[in-house]
Amino acid sequence: MNLKSNIKIYENALQASIEVAQHITSIIQKNESVGKPTVLGLATGNTPLLVYQELVRLYHEKQVSFQKVITFNLDEYYPMAPHHPQSYVAFMKKHLFDHIDIDWKNVHIPNGELITDDIPLFCKAYEDKIVAAGGLDFQLLGIGRTGHIGFNEPESSLESLTRLVDLNPITREDAIADFNGLNNVPKQAISMGVQTIYKAKEIMLLAFSEKKSDIIQKAIQEEVNPQVPASYLQKHPNITYILDNESASKLKKQLS
Ligand code: GLP
Repeated sequence: MNLKSNIKIYENALQASIEVAQHITSIIQKNESVGKPTVLGLATGNTPLLVYQELVRLYHEKQVSFQKVITFNLDEYYPMAPHHPQSYVAFMKKHLFDHIDIDWKNVHIPNGELITDDIPLFCKAYEDKIVAAGGLDFQLLGIGRTGHIGFNEPESSLESLTRLVDLNPITREDAIADFNGLNNVPKQAISMGVQTIYKAKEIMLLAFSEKKSDIIQKAIQEEVNPQVPASYLQKHPNITYILDNESASKLKKQLS
């Protein structure tokens, strides 16, 4: 099939994730060689799990160090206490941060415990910290069934920045198993905006399994459309779509 060169299709999620982890490692090493820190935008969900597993493995093999890495997570549920097992703080510790040599002061995750009035200032400060760190060198992304990136649900604008958002009913439904029932799934989240993500120097959007095939086809091949926020990324100068055979199964033949 003829597809754009920035669409990479792998036999399975493991092969894809190993390559993504190696790529992240090479960015860190390259920056390190010129004395620069690396600023990573990180994602949660099932999709990046094998990337984190491989990064931990590479760390244990002493192929990479995270001492000079600064991270910004895409989002956090609101309200959400960091010690709650479903918080994205708990997720990131469990799958990555507890197993590598990152300095906790270099880790940034939206604070799900703020009082509502304090959220706008927090969000502005989050944006400012990304800029002060030199901008995101690399953003790792999954995609929700609604086409969301981070928690930028349908109708998010390209100009959106970090803010409090309402979760789409489909997104909440997808989280039922994690929270033991719909009533326990938070209704809101604090998420980086589309623009925050778009300003990253490089983006890799990962999608695995058949259940992502419809939204991947829309996000990559249909007109840019606020109903599918991930479609904004089609215009990004340095985005790669990392797919497995199943998530790529509905892509149509396309001239590069
Ligand atoms: C959550 C996260 C997104 C993620 C999406 C997909 O909604 N906020 O960043 O991309 O889930 O989840 P999964 O990778 O489990 O399919």
